[in-house]
This record gives sequence, C-alpha cells and structure tokens, in this order.
Amino acid sequence: MIILRTVNDVRRYVSEQKGRHASIGLVPTMGALHAGHLSLVEKAVKGNDVVIASVFVNPTQFNNPVDLATYPRDEESDFRLLSEAGVSAVFAPSVEEIYPGGVSAHSGHVYDLGSVAEVMEGKYRPGHFQGVAQIVSLLFRIVTPDRAYFGEKDFQQIAVIRKMIETEGIDVEIIACPIKRAEDGLALSSRNALLTEEQRKIAPDIHAALKESVEYSKTHSVRATHDSVVERIDAMPEMKVEYFEIVDGRTLESIDEWEESPWVVGCITVYCGKVRLIDNIAYRMPK
Ligand code: PAJ
Repeated sequence: MIILRTVNDVRRYVSEQKGRHASIGLVPTMGALHAGHLSLVEKAVKGNDVVIASVFVNPTQFNNPVDLATYPRDEESDFRLLSEAGVSAVFAPSVEEIYPGGVSAHSGHVYDLGSVAEVMEGKYRPGHFQGVAQIVSLLFRIVTPDRAYFGEKDFQQIAVIRKMIETEGIDVEIIACPIKRAEDGLALSSRNALLTEEQRKIAPDIHAALKESVEYSKTHSVRATHDSVVERIDAMPEMKVEYFEIVDGRTLESIDEWEESPWVVGCITVYCGKVRLIDNIAYRMPK
C-alpha cells in the first residue's frame, strides 16, 4: 500500500491507474478505523481493480470544536488495517493541503443539497453537511473513482451525497453498505472509543430499543412507536435522545402513517454522557 500525502500525488497515482484502465473504488473515512470501515473496504476490494481509501478528519464538517479536538486519531493502526484489507493507496493529507487558504476561507461555495440535508443531522448540526459535501466532492474530483462506498450507519449522509453528485454533475456510482455492529448490537463507531466502561455497557440498548420497536410497530401507530423508543432510552442513566425521527427512506421527511411509504426508517441520535451516537433501523423496506 502506498501512502499519498498531497493532491498532486493522488492525481499522479490515479492517472497511472487510469492509464492501465484499472477501475477505481474510493472509501472516504476520518480514520480511527474499525470493522465498520473495513466492511466498506472489503466490498470495494471485491468490486474494483484498485482501492483508494482516504483518512482525513475534516474540520469543516465539525460544528462542535470539542468534538473535533477529541476525535480519535491513530494513523499507524489505520494504515496497518487498510494495508491488510487490500487497499492499494491511502490518501492522508494535512489540513493545509486540503484547505490551503485556511479552513474558514472555504465556506464560499454553498452546495445545493436540497431538503434531505435540512432535517435531522442538518437541523442539529448546522453546516455539517456543507462540510461533508465540500470534502467528498473534492475527493471525487481528485480521485475520479468509478465507485464510492458509504455506510448506512450514516443514513442521511448517503442521501445528501447522492443529491450533491446530482447537483454538482459528478459521475460516480454510490454503493451503500449495511451497518456493522458489535456482538452486543452497538453500531460500530470511532466515537465508541470515547465511552466510559459503564456507558459502553448500556450503549447497546439503543439498538435493542430500535429492534424491539420493529415488533411493536406492527400493532402500534407511528407516534406510539416513536414515543416508546424515546421513553425507553431516556429512562436510562446518562442517555438522552437528541432526536428520533421515523422517515420516508427516500425523502427523509417524517411520516405519520406506516402506509405512507414503502421504505420507512427510524433515525436516532442519542447522547450517552457527552458522546453523540447515531443509529437507524428499517421498519419497512421496498421489496
Ligand atoms: P467516518 O465516520 O470515518 O465514516 C467513514 C465511512 O464509514 C462512512 O461512510 C460511514 O457511514 C461508514 N461507517 C462508519 N461506521 C460504520 C458501521 N458501523 N457500519 C458500516 N459503515 C460504517 O462518515 C465520515 O467518516 C465522513 O463524513 C466522510 C464521509 C469521510 C467525509 O469526511
């Protein structure tokens, strides 16, 4: 695996690969890699001649400076895991390389991300998706991948990226990959490393509550299902639901009746102490 630090290094590497007609898969990450990220890499390795992973903690998508400062970083372990997983090249640039004019100087271009970026994370993390669009569009432009891999743990992020490539006219196939969980059900996340031992023990209850609510939803209304999840999680020590929305999987608009859409997803964000965890579950899936 080769390590690329500059945009020019990436461009050179990509043009060599294109010269030999290799298909390119891109896996964008912010590092602190776990089996969730590696499941994306595994899929990318199977589906492409060459896989480029990026490791970059993108400052412009953090609306909370403490979150940015405490975001876990472990480049050595990341590179080892990526190399073992069969990645051909890792792009791990500095902040200055990506934002040479300074981080705030790049807020100029406003991406049209439509209504999918305004709800849920868009409401609670203002500017977050503009930052995601900024870095992902830049990666797409320099790597020009055939396919790019994203996890369904960040369900809304995938919808926003699909909208971004449409409005920016970027030609890339987006591959959505299922959520990878720990054995106890907790969705794997780099932020799990920040949980205390006690918090880590109770965090799987988020998924447990969502899973049980799928059964409950078969005999209860959307509202009753929503409330039962929030009540159960809020009753636990250190846990506070920031939002739980039951939405149409296509538009991400909240629904009132189960029959409103063939694809219904419950998206949740919970503060476990100071750590913000996100998860989701499908109530209805298109056949
Ligand atoms: P990060 O949180 O590092 O996640 C990188 C990719 O891994 C995302 O597509 C995310 O959805 C996926 N992922 C994380 N945990 C997962 C899990 N448990 N199961 C399956 N996939 C999982 O998401 C970002 O970084 C950034 O916003 C990024 C797209 C890299 C732009 O900076």
